[in-house]
Amino acid sequence: AKRAYHEKVINHYESPRNVGSLNKNDPTVGTGLVGSPACGDVMKLQIKVDDDGIIQDVKFKTFGCGSAIASSSFVTEHIKGLSLEQAGQVKNTEIAKELSLPPVKLHCSMLAEDAIRSAIRDYKTKRTNLAAATAAPEPQPEVAMA
Ligand code: FES
Repeated sequence: AKRAYHEKVINHYESPRNVGSLNKNDPTVGTGLVGSPACGDVMKLQIKVDDDGIIQDVKFKTFGCGSAIASSSFVTEHIKGLSLEQAGQVKNTEIAKELSLPPVKLHCSMLAEDAIRSAIRDYKTKRTNLAAATAAPEPQPEVAMA
């Protein structure tokens, strides 16, 4: 009999890696929260990034199907240790291939790709805002008192 799911999917689904949350208020943490229009499943993926732009830690929570859980579990292991740029290039087709997802489950791996992008975007926005907030104020011209 043909199995519906590849064993890698089952393995990640039954013992997902890196489930949990990071502190979303930590300035070194980027949070991605995405939903699939196709099925309504939701995935949260968080990255903790060091000063060199390397992903040190990854956590996820997925309220979705087995393939979505397996996809997110897989990517948390895959992007740990990558630069933001490298992680941003992870394609859902790679995830689907690695997990041997059937075509009908492609959108589940798309959720993981979107979640990574979203987490990177959040992290970069935080950095930009932080840099703006801590930038040295412009020297004010002295005002002569009348
Ligand atoms: Fe929706 Fe898999 S069926 S993410």
